[in-house]
Amino acid sequence: MTPEPIPDIRQLLAFYVEAGVDCALDDAPVNRLAEPEPAPLASAPVAREAPPPQPFRATPAIIPPRAEPPPPPDAAIASAREAARTAPSLEALRALLETFDGCSLKNTATRLVFADGNPQARIMFVGEAPGRDEDIEGLPFVGRSGKLLDRMIGAIGLDRSKAYIANVIPWRPPGNRTPTPQETQICLPFIQRQIELVDPDVLVTLGNPSTQALLGTREGIMRTRGRWLEYDTGRRVIRAMATFHPAYLLRSPSYKRLSWQDLRAIAKVLSS
Ligand code: URA
Repeated sequence: MTPEPIPDIRQLLAFYVEAGVDCALDDAPVNRLAEPEPAPLASAPVAREAPPPQPFRATPAIIPPRAEPPPPPDAAIASAREAARTAPSLEALRALLETFDGCSLKNTATRLVFADGNPQARIMFVGEAPGRDEDIEGLPFVGRSGKLLDRMIGAIGLDRSKAYIANVIPWRPPGNRTPTPQETQICLPFIQRQIELVDPDVLVTLGNPSTQALLGTREGIMRTRGRWLEYDTGRRVIRAMATFHPAYLLRSPSYKRLSWQDLRAIAKVLSS
């Protein structure tokens, strides 16, 4: 049998990227298979013989970050609420997030993705979480779905200088995985405060995760989209509408027709 050719570094990296490993978390790889087994619990039967040594195999280095472990979720949620509540301005809120250590997504993200657009805008769009392009640039919706969002905003006669754009989660989840409910709960007070500070006339949630997190809906986006809902900042009730996430529209272009209807309803309210 002819032995498999050994891949060169480019081929290996291409394999990792294809497998979803698109960011390095540490300077050097760690061979997890070579690490000793954790000590057995006191009550567990004690192994009499050491297991045979594991052969070395190159594995993608999924390495936990070296930073301090984040506080337990309840403490992190409480400290997020307290911190967000005290931010007097968007600049202060951004600065708070830069130093907030309660969400471990920060440890794997390249940078904070706070917002883009005009804080004085009458309309605010909120997505779920930054992806790879946003993580690199530090701005929300700059990748393929961002280009489509720009066209959606253009469809109501606006552009980024007349709209404000943010995400529920301001750090990219590693490999674009879905944020956990805990991560969402920890980040929620910050986006809620951001909405309160921007105080738009219309809030548009993009896709199910941001709709459920901000508008408290339980049904899917097919049912919630296109209906006027309310978002209460505590100081004012803002008109809110859910529509499809642009990434979803890229995968299912036939729904663009419905999102166009949503955008027309939004344009009508903005012009009244
Ligand atoms: N998807 C989102 O929800 N937000 C972004 O910023 C980019 C893609």
